[in-house]
Amino acid sequence: MKTLVMFGIFLHVSLRIQAAVIEVFEEAQSVLLPCLYGGIIPEEDPFVIWTRNDHNSQVILFLREGSDPERQNQIYRGRTSMSPDALETGNYSLTFRKPQPSDSGNYICSISDGVKSIKLTEVQLNVKDVQVEVKMSKDAEFVVLPCKTSAGLPKDTRVEWTRSEPGFMLVHAYPNTSARNAEREEHFYSRTAMYEDLLRTGDVSLTLRDPTARDSGRYVCTVYRDKDILRQRVVLDPEGTPIWVTVLLVLLVLVVLGLTGGVLFYFHFIRVKQRDGRVTVDSGAESVLLPCRTTKNLPEDARVEWRDKDNEKVHVYENGSDQSSKQSPFFRTRTKMDKNLLETGDLSLTLKHPTIGDKNIYTCKVSNRDGVVLMMKQVKLQVKVQHQITVDSDVESVLLPCRTTDHLPGDARVEWIQSPDKKAHVYENGSDQPGEQSQFYRTRTKMDEEPPMTGDLSLTLRWPTDGDSEIFTCKVSSKNGVVLMKKQVQLEVKVCQVEVEEGAESVLLPFRTTPDLPGDTGLEWRKGNYVTVHVYQNNSDQPEKQNRFYINRTRMDEDLLKTGDLSLSLSRPTERDSGEYRCLVYSWKGNLQREKTVLLKVKARRQIHEGTPLIPV
Ligand SMILES: *[C@@H]1O[C@H](CO)[C@@H](O)[C@H](O)[C@H]1NC(C)=O
Ligand SMILES: *[C@@H]1O[C@H](CO)[C@@H](O)[C@H](O)[C@H]1NC(C)=O
Repeated sequence: MKTLVMFGIFLHVSLRIQAAVIEVFEEAQSVLLPCLYGGIIPEEDPFVIWTRNDHNSQVILFLREGSDPERQNQIYRGRTSMSPDALETGNYSLTFRKPQPSDSGNYICSISDGVKSIKLTEVQLNVKDVQVEVKMSKDAEFVVLPCKTSAGLPKDTRVEWTRSEPGFMLVHAYPNTSARNAEREEHFYSRTAMYEDLLRTGDVSLTLRDPTARDSGRYVCTVYRDKDILRQRVVLDPEGTPIWVTVLLVLLVLVVLGLTGGVLFYFHFIRVKQRDGRVTVDSGAESVLLPCRTTKNLPEDARVEWRDKDNEKVHVYENGSDQSSKQSPFFRTRTKMDKNLLETGDLSLTLKHPTIGDKNIYTCKVSNRDGVVLMMKQVKLQVKVQHQITVDSDVESVLLPCRTTDHLPGDARVEWIQSPDKKAHVYENGSDQPGEQSQFYRTRTKMDEEPPMTGDLSLTLRWPTDGDSEIFTCKVSSKNGVVLMKKQVQLEVKVCQVEVEEGAESVLLPFRTTPDLPGDTGLEWRKGNYVTVHVYQNNSDQPEKQNRFYINRTRMDEDLLKTGDLSLSLSRPTERDSGEYRCLVYSWKGNLQREKTVLLKVKARRQIHEGTPLIPV
């Protein structure tokens, strides 16, 4: 009776146990679920019982005379054992042989006398069959085997990198004790390193220098953190040339923490086969496919989410259908996923009309109703501009090509866009729409007559300057706003360079643009960012606004707004005048209308002083 009272007191103490997390791989021979107890045990008929929390099943019932197979769930029969003298030593650890992913769950070790029982430990077992695949390039200087856990690791955390294939060996140990160091395989000597601040960041990735094909195989990162043993498998694959790490962030060690066993149970359903996480497409392509596949059926409540690296929602699939209201406007109407994705496991995303702006790293994430991540995969999308055009700074015009053989509706809207708020040209309802065009391109652009008919939507840009070095998007949409086509052209206009020798009468910084600029146009030639070289406002020069160094030295065309000749003549150039000059043209409202840079180089004249002896005496 006395024992029972004491026993009862312990009951209260024992309730607040945090589950230790033990991670193991499917092919492990066995895993040990620790349970050590140094307290009082009931005198009469004590027994240790391991139960699986989420299944309410008895894993093992262990009495003084040994385990009782009649009182354990048959799925554990022959697979579990405890040390025969467990009740004497207080070591109630359970050896679990051939763990299966379906064994993932929470296990509780208790001691009881049949009336009362004390919960001693709880262990969250996670049997993983997922892995991260890393490809190494032939000539790479190093390769990083990724492994991340929680930030702020306790000081006594230990980390081990081992290789299980072709043979077992210790690759790297943290902390680096001489004993552990001695066990290390010679093959890896002085070629491995881990980040110095790994305890703070939780990033226990391994860097392997000068990797060769001999280094390929299966690596395991094991983190001993408090009572937890966390593992992650990384497969280093010698195939493939690009130095690209296929980041299958499949259930990184820590995601698992704090989850219930029932959730862990799903893990074995999912295995990612995808190897290459990189996709390249030409901007202007109809669409691009971001691959993401799982091999087996997903749970019915699966939520699939594609996000970009800024965490913008690209596509959301939930409750059995696409949720377009939850996706970012930038991607709305542009994405598509397989209708039967839960059955097919094909979570690939089709992104229509990819452009440079879509260059990103996309993450495909599957979670269940409770928000538990079941799988994650990343795809890096590279978008290349199809047309790259480079011209000199003095050409009168440049053609930005955009052609299609598709039949476009007669009422299609054509836009040449430089940035969302800077349109180079708009064509709609059978005519150009200069009202929608940015001032910057006013009177400088021209398109074919009736472009939707001919399919030639190319744009002629007059008097291009370095200020026009941008990516232009040729976009065609239907009357109701559906995008029919997008193509991109990268224009590079070389910066104008002028060279002159000191002593010259004057030098011209050229700047030609279209004639007939609006009457309220003002402009400023600057050197660098701050030095005002010349100002023209209210139809006249403003000498009082210019830097004194340039007073009486600059001259511009008297009728510059009419002629469009904004060139600056600088007299008596000296070496000090060398540098970058910029001309900014503004409208009265302050909108930038034109912009040009000129690099001036004034070379010093070789000076020969009379009387200087050629040969020193
Ligand atoms: C407890 O027993 C297991 C075998 O059942 C053994 O592997 C383990 O090392 C023991 N733990 C301690 C702390 O003695
Ligand atoms: C680990 O310690 C040993 C000496 O105990 C030293 O020779 C070795 O360079 C150390 N390794 C690393 C990676 O710091």
